[in-house]
Amino acid sequence: MPIETTASVVTGVPGDAELLAVPYGSDLSPALPVELHLPVSELLAHYEAKGEAGEIVEVPVARAGGVGRVLLYGVGDGSQKALRKAAAGLTRRVRGRQELTVVPPEGDVAAFAEAALLAAYSFTIGAEGRKPVRSLVLVGADEERVRRAETVARAVALARDLSNTPASVKDPAWLAERAAEQGVQVRVWDEEQLQADGFGGILAVGRGSARPPRLIQLSYTPDVPTERHVVLVGKGITFDSGGLSLKPTDNMKFQKTDMAGGAVVIAVLGALAALGAPVRVTGLVAAAENMPSGTAQRPSDVITHYGGRTVEVLNTDAEGRLVLADALAYADAVLDPDAVVDVATLTGAITVALGRQVGAVYASDDTLADELVEAGRASDDRLWRMPLIEEYTPALKSSVADLANVEAGSSFGAGSITAALFLREFAGKRPWAHLDIAGVGRSTVDEGTLTKGATGFGVRVLLEWLTRV
Ligand code: BES
Ligand code: MN
Ligand code: ZN
Repeated sequence: MPIETTASVVTGVPGDAELLAVPYGSDLSPALPVELHLPVSELLAHYEAKGEAGEIVEVPVARAGGVGRVLLYGVGDGSQKALRKAAAGLTRRVRGRQELTVVPPEGDVAAFAEAALLAAYSFTIGAEGRKPVRSLVLVGADEERVRRAETVARAVALARDLSNTPASVKDPAWLAERAAEQGVQVRVWDEEQLQADGFGGILAVGRGSARPPRLIQLSYTPDVPTERHVVLVGKGITFDSGGLSLKPTDNMKFQKTDMAGGAVVIAVLGALAALGAPVRVTGLVAAAENMPSGTAQRPSDVITHYGGRTVEVLNTDAEGRLVLADALAYADAVLDPDAVVDVATLTGAITVALGRQVGAVYASDDTLADELVEAGRASDDRLWRMPLIEEYTPALKSSVADLANVEAGSSFGAGSITAALFLREFAGKRPWAHLDIAGVGRSTVDEGTLTKGATGFGVRVLLEWLTRV
């Protein structure tokens, strides 16, 4: 199910590859390692090629075993963006084939290779369509950069796999098992231990389900000792029915991906060693299934979070903030991080604000916000900074508890902002950032590096951020 395509690098010019991709720009005069039956620039002109990224002109060529093909691919202005588009177009085009040999373009070969692998991702259960191309051979590319791209793409694919897995298969305990496979130290709190340590938010959300909640902690320590310690917190709702504040059918069917933030944390922790990240990183995944039942929490219940703060639960569908509050409070009280970043499919409202291509970042610290936005730009997981509007904090007032989990009325609106303000209450005074990925966590289209279903958004930006020194 994960990315089956492997990337490798060869030296020399394998002009006899059966399926060979060669780049061209707007001058329509690529250097070819093979003979064509017509001059290449005439061929390209005949097909009205312009050199734009995404264009592919197929030319049959004679091969010892029969007919081979040369895929002439446009690279546009050669920017990262253009190369990603060109690469994704290529692996999409060769679905079902064994091997694609590529003469890489000038420019960022890592972005190119990463995009090629991401577009080759597929997730199917049972009857399968055309499988992705099995191997991608990059001629004469920088081996180390291609390896790095492959590590990142595989981490994104793992996050997609975890999120695409049906909730009938994945429950909090299953997620903990997947975390334990990442080659880092893992600690898991079961229901009893959650109770003993006072994780009232995670327990309250998990109460309605027959499958008990978990808190999962993953720890990465770099080979070279370092002071800097980052905590990543992921929302791990393995299915969000809304609980007793039940979702309508049309909204509910997408909620198996409500652990996408947790999946990002697990996948990032699994990739840090291979990328040689120079910081200590602790991942926390607050995992629960939000279900309605006779044991479920009720709207108007008051719960006590880790650390003792009380919250009136006015809407059981605002459950993400409840599980995250516990994990954030625990990180602040126990883990002593230099920065905390949480990742969560938190609000439908952020899709209204930013759509499906740009994720939201909220931050209590300008430097942290700038770093994340910049890492997002560089990695192609684009982020836009959203404001923590102080005037909206009264939205979360409760007459019976320290806070309410949603606004009782509807005079403030700004659902994604008030959710972020709620989380801020639990993050302490440390630099903290919150990524609301509800809009970008799932794709409705197969396009560019995206495949329909879970996107793995967050893996690339966090790996970029954590590996920059
Ligand atoms: N998991 C949802 C948010 C979501 C919506 C993710 C659509 C992906 C796609 C979250 O738990 C939720 O239900 N949020 C509510 C909050 C509301 C009750 C204040 C929402 O956005 O409607
Ligand atoms: Mn919900
Ligand atoms: Zn949710």
